[in-house]
Amino acid sequence: MANSNPVMVQAGDDYVRIFDTTLRDGEQAPGCTMNVEEKLAIARQLERLNVDIIEAGFAASSPGDFESVRRIAETLTGPTVLSLSRTREEDVDQALRAVEKAAHPGIHIFIATSDIHLKYKLLMTREDVLNASTWAVTRARQHLDYIEFSCEDASRTDWDFMAKICTEVIRAGARIINLPDTTGHSIPEEHGQMFAYMREHVEGADKVIWSAHCHNDLGLGVANSLAAVRNGARQIECTINGIGERAGNTSMEEVVMALKTRKDLMGMRTGVNTRQIYPASRLLSQIIGQPVPPNKPIVGDNAFAHEAGIHQDGVLKNKLTYEIMKPEDIGIPSNKLVLGKHSGRHGFINRLKELGVDADTIDIQKAFAAFKELCDKKKIVYDDDILALANEESRKTGDFFELVDLKVTSSTKTTPHAEVTMRVEGAERTADATGDGMVDACYKAIYKLTELNPTLERYSVKGITGGTDALGEVSCLVREDGMTVAGQGAHSDIVTASALALVNALNRLKTRAQAPARRPSEGP
Ligand code: KIV
Ligand code: ZN
Repeated sequence: MANSNPVMVQAGDDYVRIFDTTLRDGEQAPGCTMNVEEKLAIARQLERLNVDIIEAGFAASSPGDFESVRRIAETLTGPTVLSLSRTREEDVDQALRAVEKAAHPGIHIFIATSDIHLKYKLLMTREDVLNASTWAVTRARQHLDYIEFSCEDASRTDWDFMAKICTEVIRAGARIINLPDTTGHSIPEEHGQMFAYMREHVEGADKVIWSAHCHNDLGLGVANSLAAVRNGARQIECTINGIGERAGNTSMEEVVMALKTRKDLMGMRTGVNTRQIYPASRLLSQIIGQPVPPNKPIVGDNAFAHEAGIHQDGVLKNKLTYEIMKPEDIGIPSNKLVLGKHSGRHGFINRLKELGVDADTIDIQKAFAAFKELCDKKKIVYDDDILALANEESRKTGDFFELVDLKVTSSTKTTPHAEVTMRVEGAERTADATGDGMVDACYKAIYKLTELNPTLERYSVKGITGGTDALGEVSCLVREDGMTVAGQGAHSDIVTASALALVNALNRLKTRAQAPARRPSEGP
C-alpha cells in the first residue's frame, strides 16, 4: 500500500498535523469506552473537523477494537486511519488487517524505552527493545508506507539510547517518530530540549515527522506540545475534551486554538475546521456521558461568559477588550431562538447539519416529533436543546431496553412511588417501586425490569438552557462486575431525563457484557 496521503506529501513547514487519539488513548479513561457505532459517530465528526490522522483503536486488544478500526478505516476517506500495535508479530498483523481497506492506512508501533519500564514492565534489555522495534517496523514496512513509531515513556528515557532507537527505526522505514510524555512528567522547557536533541542526534531526523504526545498529569499537556512544536515537532497527538489515561491527553480544542490564536508568535497552522470543535466536544460528552466542566477552556459553558461588571461593560463596548477568540469560530451556538413551533422538517434538518449532527445517524422522524413536542412545552427552543434532542435520538439505536412510560407520585407527606413501563428485548413490561425520592423510586423499578443492579457511582443534572421549562440533561455512571459505563438522558422532565440516562447506561452495560473481553496490553 503506497502512501498517497496529501498531508504527507504537500504540507509545508508551518503545518502542524493533528493526530486525534480520542478513540484509542481517550477511550482508555475510566467510563469512556464506546461501542462500534459510537466510535463511528466520533470518527465521522473527526473527519468533519478535518483532523489529519485518526488513531481508531488498538486492533489486537480485542475483537471489538479490531472491528471498530476496520469499520472506521473502510468508512472514512479524508484522514489517515491507523491502529496502535505493540512490536509483536500478531499485533502488527492484526493492525495491518484492520486498516487494509482504508483510503489512507497507517500503523502506530510502540514500545517502552525508559529503563524503569524495561526493568519492571518489559523485563527486556535495551538491546532486546532495539531489536523488537526494528523487527516490527521492518515487518510493517513490507506492507505499508505510513508507519509511526513511538518510544513509550520517552520523557524518562535516556536520550542517547532513544537517539539510537530512532536512528534504527527510521532506517527500517518509520515515517513519523513520536516521543510521548507518557506519565505527564515533562516541563515545557525540557520537553522542547528533548525534541531539539533528537532532531540533532538522530540520523535521518530530517526525513521524518516528529510528533508530540503529552499526558496532562501536571496540567502541562498543551504547554509541552507547544514547546515540542517550537523545537521542530510537526504533529500533535491529542483528544477531544482532553480525555485519556488518568488526567487525560493534550486537549485538541485547546492546542488547536492556541496555535490559531497565537499564530503571531508560533507562526504555525493546522488544517482543523475549528467551527466543528464545539459540536465535537458536545457529541463526545453525550456519548461517554461525561459533562464538560464549565471552566474548561474553549468548550466549557463559562469559556465565553463574562460575569464581572467591568468585563461586561468592556465586552459591550468592544468584544476584543476581553475576548481573544470568537465563539463562532469554535462553532458555539449563539443560543438565540433558531426554530419554533412553525418550523418545518426541512429547516430542522438544516439546523442539525449546521450544528454538526450527522442526520444519517439518527431517526429524523422521531427527532422531529420530539422537537415539535418540545416546542409545545417550551416558548423558546435553543440550539443546545436541538443538539440534546438529536443526541437523545442517536442514543436509542439497537437497544435492549427502552423506556415506554413513567408515572411518578410524590408529596411532602407520602413515600415517592414510581411505575415504569419498559420494552425489554421487545416485550413490554411494567414494574413499580417506592424510594427516597422520585428518581430513587424510578431507578429501583428500572432495576427490577432489567434484572440489573449496578452501583450508581455518579449522578448529575444540568439545565441545558435557562428557565424552569429548560431541557434537563442527566449524566450517570454505573458500575457492575468491574465495568464502568456512562449514560445520558435529556428531557424537559428531570425524572424522565434521569430514567433515560439510566436506561442508556444499562443498554451499554448489556452490550459490553456480551462483547469479548480486551486482552491486557502490557508486554513488548
Ligand atoms: O502515552 C503513551 O505513551 C501512549 C503510547 C502508546 C503512544 O499512548
Ligand atoms: Zn498516551
